[in-house]
Amino acid sequence: MPVDLIVTCAVGFEDLFRGDLLQEHGIRSRSIEPGEILLQDVEDLGFLTSAVALDRVALPWDPDAPSDVIADVVRRLAGDAGIEQPVRFRVQAAPDVREELIARFSDGAGWVNAPSDWQVNLDVERGVAQLGPLAWAARFGTLRRLPAATPVSVVAGLLRLAKCAPHDLLLDPCAGVATVPIVDAIERPDGRCIVLDRDVEAVDLARRNLAERGLDRRIEVSAGDAARLDLADRSVDRVVTDLPFGKRIGSNSNNIELYPRVLREIERVLTLSGRCVLLTDDKRVFKDALARTRGLKIVREQVVRYHGVNPSAYVVTRSRAPGRRAR
Ligand SMILES: C[S@@+](CC[C@H](N)C(=O)[O-])C[C@H]1O[C@@H](n2cnc3c(N)ncnc32)[C@H](O)[C@@H]1O
Repeated sequence: MPVDLIVTCAVGFEDLFRGDLLQEHGIRSRSIEPGEILLQDVEDLGFLTSAVALDRVALPWDPDAPSDVIADVVRRLAGDAGIEQPVRFRVQAAPDVREELIARFSDGAGWVNAPSDWQVNLDVERGVAQLGPLAWAARFGTLRRLPAATPVSVVAGLLRLAKCAPHDLLLDPCAGVATVPIVDAIERPDGRCIVLDRDVEAVDLARRNLAERGLDRRIEVSAGDAARLDLADRSVDRVVTDLPFGKRIGSNSNNIELYPRVLREIERVLTLSGRCVLLTDDKRVFKDALARTRGLKIVREQVVRYHGVNPSAYVVTRSRAPGRRAR
C-alpha cells in the first residue's frame, strides 16, 4: 500500500529536486515548509538508495491518534526501511507529553523506548515519525567534518546544477573534507574528480573520508592553492566548489584578492563547454570579480539557506570562446 513521506532537502533546491523525483521516479510531491517536501503515494522506498539530495525521511504522524495507526505503517515498511522489531523509539516533546507518549507506544504498540539508540523519532511539534535508518548518514555513511564543511544536501544541489556527464572531469579547488567528490561518487561511480585545499587538516580529513569509502585510488586530494592550479588549459569540464565566505574562513578583504585570482584560474582550465557552480555568501565581491573576469558569465543564481547563512550558488559558463576578441 502506498505511503506519504515527508523528506528534508536544502532550502532553495526544493523545486529542482521535486522535478527530479517526478521525472526519474514518477513521485508526485508538494513543498510544505522551506526545505521540507511531502512525497505522495510512494509505492517503493528503493529510490532512496540514490536520492543524495534528501536528508531526513519521515512519516506524517498525528500525535493524537492511537498508537496502532502509525505502528501499522512502520510495521509494513520495516523490512524496506531497515527497522528492527521491537521498534526502538524516542519521543521529542515537552516532558509531560513525552511520558504519556512513551507509555502509549510501549504498552499499545510494544515499542521500546531507546532515546540514544532509536530507529523511530516521534516529533510532536513537527507531527512526524522520523525513520532513522533512512537518514542520509545511515544510507550513505557519515563523514568527518570541519566547522565550515558544506552540508551534504547543499552539495547535492550544487552538483545537480552542474549537470556532470558520466565521464566529465570535475574539479573542487576548495574541497575541505571532500564532500563534493564523495556526494558526486554516489551518482557517478566512475566519474573523474580532482580536489585540493590549502588547509592541511582539511586535506588529511578529506583523504580519510575518501579512503573509508574506497575512493582514495580514484580521487586524488592535494594540498594546493585554488589561485594557482597545477592543471592544463581547457582540461576541466566542471568546477563545483564552496568558496571561503570570508567569515569562518578567510576575510572579506582576502576575498577581494582571492576571488579574481581563483576565477582567472577557473577560466584558464575550463573546457569550452565547461560549467561551474560556485557557492559564496560574499556576493558583492564575487559578482565584482566575475564581472572583471574576461570569458566567464553568470547564467543563474540560486539562493540557498543553511546554518544561518544565505549564500548563492552561481552557475557560471563561458561568455565567449577564449582568445577571440569581442567586437
Ligand atoms: C567553505 S569551505 C569548503 C567546504 C567543503 N566544501 C567541505 O565540505 O568541507 C572553504 C575551503 O576553502 C579552503 N581555502 C581557502 N582559501 C583557499 C585557497 N586559496 N586555495 C585552496 N583552498 C582554499 C579552506 O581551507 C576551506 O576548506
